[in-house]
Parts: sequence; structure tokens; C-alpha cells
Amino acid sequence: MRFTLISTIVATVGLGMAQLSGKVGPSTSREDKAAKKLCNILDHGGVASETTDNSMAITKAWESCKEGGQILIPEGKFGLGKWIELSGGKGLSLNLEGIIIRSGNGTAGESMITVQKTEDFEFYSASSKGAIQGYGFEFHERNSSGPGMLSLSEVTSFSIHDLALVDSPSSHLSVDRSANGEIFNLVVHGGDRAGLNGVDVSSTNIWVHDLEVSNGDDCVAVKSPASNVLIESIFCNLSGGCAVGPSGENTNITEIIYRNIYSQRCKHMLSIKSNGGSGFFNNAIFTNFTGHTNDDAINLDSKWQSQEPAPGEGVEYDYLDFTNWAGTCKNNKVPLIHLQCSPDILCGSLNVDSVNVWTEAGDSVSYVCENAYGMGACMNPFAGNGRYTSTTSVTSMAPTSYAITTMPAEITQGLGVTTSIDIPPVPTTYFPGLKPASTLLGKV
Ligand SMILES: *[C@@H]1O[C@H](CO)[C@@H](O)[C@H](O)[C@H]1NC(C)=O
Ligand SMILES: *[C@@H]1O[C@H](CO)[C@@H](O)[C@H](O)[C@H]1NC(C)=O
Ligand SMILES: *[C@@H]1O[C@H](CO)[C@@H](O)[C@H](O)[C@H]1NC(C)=O
Ligand SMILES: *[C@@H]1O[C@H](CO)[C@@H](O)[C@H](O)[C@H]1NC(C)=O
Ligand SMILES: *[C@@H]1O[C@H](CO)[C@@H](O)[C@H](O)[C@H]1NC(C)=O
Repeated sequence: MRFTLISTIVATVGLGMAQLSGKVGPSTSREDKAAKKLCNILDHGGVASETTDNSMAITKAWESCKEGGQILIPEGKFGLGKWIELSGGKGLSLNLEGIIIRSGNGTAGESMITVQKTEDFEFYSASSKGAIQGYGFEFHERNSSGPGMLSLSEVTSFSIHDLALVDSPSSHLSVDRSANGEIFNLVVHGGDRAGLNGVDVSSTNIWVHDLEVSNGDDCVAVKSPASNVLIESIFCNLSGGCAVGPSGENTNITEIIYRNIYSQRCKHMLSIKSNGGSGFFNNAIFTNFTGHTNDDAINLDSKWQSQEPAPGEGVEYDYLDFTNWAGTCKNNKVPLIHLQCSPDILCGSLNVDSVNVWTEAGDSVSYVCENAYGMGACMNPFAGNGRYTSTTSVTSMAPTSYAITTMPAEITQGLGVTTSIDIPPVPTTYFPGLKPASTLLGKV
């Protein structure tokens, strides 16, 4: 039964959005919203100055356009001294033409901007030049951490695009308990430090595509609960890499596709992480991953040390498909594929096929499997679960088809944790040979 399901997903991979369970994005166009009402923050007390706190002006503009309309933050630099919660409403867009600059210290643990309980929402920049500058280095140089940058919670039918999210004091974009969203044409440049995730999704029916992320933690991550998430054409331009998890108690993650993921100088091309916990992560496909100079390719870690052990015997992993990978890892100091499952819970029907990744240093690579069942790598091919002695297989013959096309302008050193990070333009390419699904709005 489950096999039928996964082969259905495989068969529909070519159809793009088939992974999604319905339409994504706002239901009303930005033109219609702008025609209905325009709420310029300058008419609500906004001042184009990086040292002025514009939190009230933005909140008032939101309140005034809540029943439908376009909120405009025009060109210029606008300080944000206090964190804002833009709540409720329907049929709104937020056009950020200028730059929002963190100008205060707010409260740690919260987000500079939270959008919640909203329907039919679009956050974008018509010139593709809008940005949020978090000056996170001011926290990081003192080893402290500040707020997240942008978070969406209980938002339905939305899109976020054509923006730059730069140097968040904590994670950059998180989308939780939301549905029917599209996130695309976005650049995230954060410091090379843990805790500065790029995009975190724990929602349903979400299409994430055409993103460039540079940071020291997860690039694009799926967290519980999540279902019907399609993530494609992602450029992890020196990052921790793409991830599922960390997962804890009552994990519920299903129907996920990651494809056309390019990673360079990342910790992992992909990591799946938990420590104890319960629930499941199943029915996922990870295909067309390429890249180079990463520490490893696949790291499924059920004893992830950076996470406090969660109650439960472990998260169940099954029907996970890893196919058609190419490229190289930095060296062979760590296993290229490491599938470390819990002995106490199902970890089966995994499929590793055509993961043609080789090493840049040394003449062999190793795979390590522990309690993992399925086809490929060093797994136990029999159906079942339970403890077995960790097995290692060493390959000393390079796969024939590991060569890849690289991306232009790759970053070779992580971005500043003690110096400010520049606002980059939104890129026009995210995966070798593939055009973004939508052209940039600001493209002349
Ligand atoms: C933020 O915190 C730092 C360090 O405590 C302090 O130097 C700075 O003045 C604060 N900024 C504001 C706007 O309060
Ligand atoms: C920050 O942490 C690092 C690593 O733990 C340490 O080397 C450095 O001295 C710390 N810096 C400050 C300002 O505390
Ligand atoms: C998992 O989440 C879905 C909604 O995304 C829900 O329908 C389903 O009942 C959940 N399953 C469990 C076992 O909690
Ligand atoms: C895999 O990537 C190649 C380009 O490198 C592309 O032609 C192909 O369509 C991709 N496959 C999928 C399933 O997207
Ligand atoms: C990768 O990051 C570097 C450093 O910020 C940037 O110059 C380059 O444009 C990025 N590459 C792409 C293709 O976006």
C-alpha cells in the first residue's frame, strides 16, 4: 500500500506542482488590492530615517488596509526599533520598496516582524530591491542572539517574494501553522554561525522555490508538523545545508519533495535529525541534489547531539527516497552517507539510488549504516526493523557520473558575524541550467 503511494509521487515528480495538495499563493492580485486601497506608511507617521522607529507607522498602515488593500513602504531606509505583530485581516499586500533596518534591541526570542491570522496575503517588492537588514552582527559579536526576522503564523493563501533578508539576529524566515503558500525569488544572507536558519517551514501545501541562502545553519528546513511541501531550485551558497527536523515528540511530517538542490561548502547536502522523540517522517523524495566541497552528502541522525533528547523511543522514518545525486564532498573524514537509525523504532523502506557523490581528497568514500533498512548504501535490504551491528562499506572507485556544473559567483568564506553584511541583489539563477519559475518583478 505504502509503496503504491511513493511510486505515485515518483511518477508525478515531473509534473512539478503535483506534489502540492492545491493552489498556492494569494487569491487576489496585487493590482486589485492596490486599486482597492493604498496605505502608505508615510501617511501614518512613517519617516524615512534609519534611526526612527517606524513600528507604529507600519502597524497603523496595516490596520487601515486590513479589510483589503496595499500597504506601501516606499523607497528609503526605515528604522524598526520595536517588533511588530501584524495580525488579522484579509486581502492585503505589503509592498516593500525600501529597506527596513533594525534600529532597536526589542525583546529576544521574538520576531522583528510577525504576520499572523491573515488570509490572502502577499509580501513582495515590486522593484525586487526591498530588503530587511537585521544587523545581527551587533548581537553575534557579543555571542548573544536577538530576534528572528520574519515569521508567518496561521497565514493562508500567501506569497513572499522578490526580497532580501539580511543578517538576522536569529532565524530569518519561519512559516508555521500556515497553508497554501508560495515562497520564491528570495535571497537570505546571514552570518556564518549556528542559530541563523534560512527558511523553516512547518505548514501544509507550501511551494518553496528559487532561493539563495548563505548562513551557518539550516538552509531550507522542514519541521513538524508539515505536509505537501515542495522545495526546489535552492542554492545553499555556504550554509549548514538543507534539513528535515530537528524532530521531537509527535512528529508528523509527510509528502515532502526536495529537488534541484545545489549546495556548496555546506555541512551536509541533507540532514535528517532527531534525538528520541516520537511520531513519523515518511513519504519523501530527495532528488537531483548536486554540489561540491560539502562535509557530507546524507546524514540521517537519530541521536543528534545538539538536541536535548525528546520523550519517546524515536521518530519513525520510512519511505524516504534519495535518488540522482552528483558532485563531491570536501574530503573523506566523515562518512559520505550516514544512516543512523534508532534500534527501537521502524526505519525502513529507505532507498538510496544513484547517489553519485565522490570526494575531493582521498581515494575512497565510506557509507555507515546502523539499524537502517532498505535498498542501497550499506543498508540491510530485508524488510524489518531492529538492532543490527553498524555496517560500513567503503568504495574506492569513483562513480562515473559524479561531475557537475558549478554555479557562478560562489561564496568561499562565510559572511560576517562581527561585521555587517551587505544587502545583495535577488539572484536570477539558483540551480545550474534551470531558469527560475517566475522572472524577477524588478527586472527591466
Ligand atoms: C542594544 O544593545 C547594545 C548592547 O547592550 C547597546 O550597546 C545598544 O545601545 C542597544 N541599542 C539600543 C537602540 O537600545
Ligand atoms: C564568543 O565565543 C567564542 C567561542 O566560544 C569566544 O572565543 C569569544 O571570545 C567569545 N566572544 C565574546 C565577546 O564573548
Ligand atoms: C498529521 O497531520 C495531519 C495534518 O497535516 C493530520 O490530518 C493527521 O491526522 C496527523 N496525523 C497524526 C497521526 O497525528
Ligand atoms: C534534474 O536536473 C536537470 C538539470 O541538471 C534537469 O534537466 C532535470 O529536469 C531535473 N530533474 C527533475 C526531476 O527536476
Ligand atoms: C553567493 O554568495 C556570494 C557572496 O555574497 C555572492 O556574491 C554571489 O552572488 C552568490 N551567488 C549567487 C549565484 O547568488
